[in-house]
Amino acid sequence: MPAIVIVGAQWGDEGKGKATDLLGSRVDYVVKPNGGNNAGHTVVVGGEKFELKLLPAGILSPNATPVIGNGVVVNLEALFHEIEGLQARGADTSKLRISANAHLVAPYHQTMDKVTERFLGKRAIGTTGRGIGPTYMDKVGRLGIRVQDIFDESILRQKIEGALRQKNELLVKLYNRRAITVDEIAEYFLSFAEQLRPMVVDSTILLNDALDRGEVVLMEGGQATYLDVDHGTYPFVTSSNPTAGGASVGSGIGPTRITRSIGIIKAYTTRVGAGPFPTELFDEWGERLQTVGGEFGVNTGRPRRCGWYDAVMARYATRINGFTDYFLTKLDVLTGIERIPVCVAYDVDGVRHDQMPMTQTEFHHAKPVFEYLPGWTEDISGARSLEDLPPNARNYVLTLEQMSGTRFSAVGVGPGRDQVIQIRDLID
Ligand code: GDP
Ligand code: IMO
Ligand code: MG
Repeated sequence: MPAIVIVGAQWGDEGKGKATDLLGSRVDYVVKPNGGNNAGHTVVVGGEKFELKLLPAGILSPNATPVIGNGVVVNLEALFHEIEGLQARGADTSKLRISANAHLVAPYHQTMDKVTERFLGKRAIGTTGRGIGPTYMDKVGRLGIRVQDIFDESILRQKIEGALRQKNELLVKLYNRRAITVDEIAEYFLSFAEQLRPMVVDSTILLNDALDRGEVVLMEGGQATYLDVDHGTYPFVTSSNPTAGGASVGSGIGPTRITRSIGIIKAYTTRVGAGPFPTELFDEWGERLQTVGGEFGVNTGRPRRCGWYDAVMARYATRINGFTDYFLTKLDVLTGIERIPVCVAYDVDGVRHDQMPMTQTEFHHAKPVFEYLPGWTEDISGARSLEDLPPNARNYVLTLEQMSGTRFSAVGVGPGRDQVIQIRDLID
C-alpha cells in the first residue's frame, strides 16, 4: 500500500509538477494536501505545456483520480476556470474529487491579503495575492467557511455573518474599504453549489480505502519546506505546512502509512517573494540562471530570484521531511558553467555553521561558504542514465548527494516528461 509524498525542498518551483507527472501513469490517486491557487505546477507533455494552479498536476494522468484534500484552501471561481481551461484542451477532469472539509477562499480574503501587504510596507511578504494567508487565518481562528457549508444555506449564512462581523470592522475602520454584506457572499458561494456537489466526498475514506486495496496514493505537495509556516523562513512563508507531516494532516493519511517521502530539489536555488536567501546572486550569473532556467513565476509572472545550490538547506529539508529520496531537477540549466559554486556551510558573524542556524537573525546574517565543482559543456538533455552524463556532471550529482543527507534517485535533464535519469524506482 504505497503512500508517497512529494515535497519541495527549497522555496518552491523545484519541479514538483514534473515529478508527479513522471509517476502519474503508475499511481491510482493524486491528492493535493495543502495550499491553493498560489501554486503553479508545470507539466510538459509531448511539447505541450500545462500550468496547474489549484488542481494537482496528477489531473493530467488519465489513470489517476485527482483529489483536493482537506488541507487545501479552495477558490471556487479559480477552480471552475481551471477545469474549463483543461477541458478546452481535451483533458478529462470528470474524476476530480474534493474534500468536504477543505476551506473556501472568499472574495474578502483576497481583499484582506492585498490590504495587509500594503500596510506591511517594507516588511511585505510578497504574497501571491490570492487570499491564501487570510483564509488559513480564518481556518485556525475558527471563522472559516468549508466546502460542506455551501450545501446548508442556513449554516452558511450564519458562518458568513460571524466572519464578516470582524472583517467589516477592519475593512471599514482600519482599511477604509466598503463593508461586505452576507447576501453578496452567500450568493457568491451558492452559485457554485450545484456544479460542486457531485465532486464532494469524504476524501479520507476514499484515500484510505484505496491504500487498503493496495493501490498507490501520491500526495503532491504545493509550495515547499522553506515556505512552511512552522519550518520555513518565518515570517517570509506561506500559511500552510507544505512539509511531509503537513501532507499527512492535509490528506487524512496517517503518518504510519507513508512509505516514501521524496524531496524535489533544483540543482541551484530560486525564490519568489521577499525574505532571506544566502546564496542569492545579484550579478550576471543570477541573470544567466534566470534566463536559461526560465525562472519566471507560473502564477504571478514575477521573475524568480536565483542563487547557487545550498547543501545546508538540503540537509535541513532532509531532516524535517524524513526524505527517503531526492529528485534533483534542472541539472541541464548548469551546462556551460566552468566552475560551479555549491554552498556547503554558512559563515555567521565569523562562526561556521554546517547546519541551519537556530535563529532568524543568524540566517539573515549567513554568508555562504562555497566549494567549487568543475562544470561541463556537453549537452546533457538526452542523458537517460548516470553513465550518459559527462564525468563532471556525474560528479556534481554524486557530490551533492553526499552533502544533502539522503540518496538521489532521479535527475531531471529537461522539462519534458521523458527527460529524466531514473536511478532507482520512486514507487516500490
Ligand atoms: P513546481 O511548482 O515545483 O511544480 O515547479 P514549476 O512548474 O513552478 O517550475 C519548474 C519549471 O522547471 C517548470 O517550467 C518545469 O517545466 C521546468 N522543469 C522541471 N524539471 C526540469 C528539468 O529537469 N530541466 C529543465 N530545464 N526544466 C525543468
Ligand atoms: P509552487 O507550488 C514559489 C510564496 C510567495 C510568497 C509566500 C507567501 O508552485 O512551488 P502566499 O500567497 O502563499 O501567502 O505567499 O510564498 N509562494 C510560492 N513561491 N512557489 C509556490 O508554489 C509558492 N506559493 C507561495 O511568493 O513569498
Ligand atoms: Mg511552481
